[in-house]
Amino acid sequence: MAIRSIRTEGDEILKKKSKKVEVIDEKIKELIKDMIETLHKYDGVGLAAVQVGILKQIVVIHEGEDKPIYVLINPEIISQTGVQVVEEGCLSFPNKFAKIERPEKIKIKALDENGKEIIITGKGLLAQAISHELDHLNGEVFIDKIIPGTLEIIKQ
Ligand code: NI
Repeated sequence: MAIRSIRTEGDEILKKKSKKVEVIDEKIKELIKDMIETLHKYDGVGLAAVQVGILKQIVVIHEGEDKPIYVLINPEIISQTGVQVVEEGCLSFPNKFAKIERPEKIKIKALDENGKEIIITGKGLLAQAISHELDHLNGEVFIDKIIPGTLEIIKQ
């Protein structure tokens, strides 16, 4: 396992669409392990493969110690309802935070790391995280969708 370096603001890869994973081979499994390790190292809630420079439809989400780690391969939205206005950040924009609208509830299907189909319904923070990470797979970053006037830049 290894910590991967995170692509940050200005890196054009963040605007590219990720491709479907065709086969979950050892290389993909290694990538997933590294993504989880990298997510924990940087204290994030979610990480998409594109953020470590790999244009594949893979996302990991972990809301905290008492919550499961979700591995989502080729995720697809089944439905989303409601709107929540939330404070958001992103490991690729380490010093920027802003308010954004996210669905209150989202239902998706995906494959897990063993290739098994899973259906997840997320509310609150999980819905926010899923929505944020699936945007990454479409080459969309949160900063382009924020509520105007809410951007906070933290000086490091
Ligand atoms: Ni992000």
